[in-house]
Amino acid sequence: MDRVIPDLLIWYRQNARDLPWRNTQDPYRIWVSEIILQQTRVEQGKSFYMNFINNFHDFCHIANSPEDSILRVWQGLGYYSRARNMIKTAEIICHDFGGKMPANHKQILSLPGIGAYTAAAIASFAFGLPHAALDGNVRRVGSRFLGLYEVLGSKQSDKIITEYLEQHIPINEAGEFNQALIEIGATVCKPQKPDCHSCPLSKQCVAYQKNTQNELPVVARKKAPVNSYLDYMWLEADGYTWLTKRDNHGIWKGLYEFPSKTRDAETRNFPFEDWIINPEYASILSVKEYKHQLTHRTIYARLWHLSTSLNNIVNKNEFTRIESVSIEAYPVHRLMLKFIEQKETTTHHD
Ligand code: ADE
Repeated sequence: MDRVIPDLLIWYRQNARDLPWRNTQDPYRIWVSEIILQQTRVEQGKSFYMNFINNFHDFCHIANSPEDSILRVWQGLGYYSRARNMIKTAEIICHDFGGKMPANHKQILSLPGIGAYTAAAIASFAFGLPHAALDGNVRRVGSRFLGLYEVLGSKQSDKIITEYLEQHIPINEAGEFNQALIEIGATVCKPQKPDCHSCPLSKQCVAYQKNTQNELPVVARKKAPVNSYLDYMWLEADGYTWLTKRDNHGIWKGLYEFPSKTRDAETRNFPFEDWIINPEYASILSVKEYKHQLTHRTIYARLWHLSTSLNNIVNKNEFTRIESVSIEAYPVHRLMLKFIEQKETTTHHD
């Protein structure tokens, strides 16, 4: 690889996208951007990143803010355990490291929510430490460049690529080297139709030399997603509505949502008989169906929008009663946002 590294770095300086988290060595900002980019694509990540750093300026600022306020800024990205891990990491850095990210790869890797890729990214971008940062892009570049038939992301493949890159990573330019590989993967060495003619690595790329760039990388087959069926109750009475906070350990832990019940796929009747509202005294404003895709789960949700008056409510304590207009202040998951925005994505009416 040594022959192409100067070309790679020149290419990067000329072609890098101007992204708001580049041109900074501030570990806090780099950390924020990398956690956000674990969750979303670059284009969508930009506004979340700007919003995040404008609201929370450093680790201690996060550590000293209420959990809800952080989840609120994270809202829309999904997978809130990442936001909760950010809070834990911010607390550790604020209390144990004097508010500064340690300039040490092992210590960075030990922080909650920081895996091999993120630790190497922070260590190299912020501190210039020579660790290979393998994200999906770099794995693809590495597997083509080295002509690997090991499954993409497998232990063997990651080990070969990491060892190879760490033997070649330029000591004084570790950060730019890693960023350049990410950039090549994102813009040139794309999954389909890689643009090998404009690639600074092609001279030494095994896949290009053997014309196997469309066979590689070898990708494992995906598991079929699981289906869940849920009924949600959006009850409104005299300007109030009801929410619950998820306290289980799923991906929506700590978030608010309308009261819900799981159901069988086929059940069609009113599901809230024994709940806080006597159906005789409620009018059904609408019943809408939503299909919501999570990484490994497809949720078929039905939203019952009900209206009644406060004196028809039976059990007032089971859920949190809030003023309807204040719902925006609560951190909610993306399916809830769809409900509130009344965006219907119905795919099955029967
Ligand atoms: N994806 C993950 N980290 C990234 C970065 N720093 N720049 C561009 N894309 C990324």
